[in-house]
Amino acid sequence: MYRAAVSLHPSRFRSERAIRCHSRAVKKATRIPVIAVGLITEFEQAEAIVGTGDADLIALARTILYNPRWPWHAAAHFGAHVKAPEQYLRSQPRQYRDLFDIGH
Ligand SMILES: Cc1cc2nc3c(=O)[nH]c(=O)nc-3n(C[C@H](O)[C@H](O)[C@H](O)COP(=O)(O)O)c2cc1C
Repeated sequence: MYRAAVSLHPSRFRSERAIRCHSRAVKKATRIPVIAVGLITEFEQAEAIVGTGDADLIALARTILYNPRWPWHAAAHFGAHVKAPEQYLRSQPRQYRDLFDIGH
């Protein structure tokens, strides 16, 4: 039994728009969560894919290889919070004073 569906590979889908269209079609055809993957690099792009309901989740491959802290940067960009191990808390940048969720 599958719990989530979809790997949308750029060898078939050469644009982010095509990936989003396909993801939306898969979502209509199934009731399990759909993950969009391929060519996702920007925070706003990722937010739009989930925010519009084109997919339930996004997955990153090359983007996260290049920048493993991408989710933290995305959270900072949107004014959201992240849980981080204690030893990271002192690294919080001055301009993102509320980035780390320290139980407030
Ligand atoms: C180094 C690397 C290894 C990958 N290995 C696999 C794999 O073993 N199986 C798979 O289905 N996809 C694999 N992929 C494809 C990714 O899961 C993903 O579908 C593809 O890179 C498109 O997403 P991206 O644009 O975020 O990189 C790999 C991609 C990269 C860059």
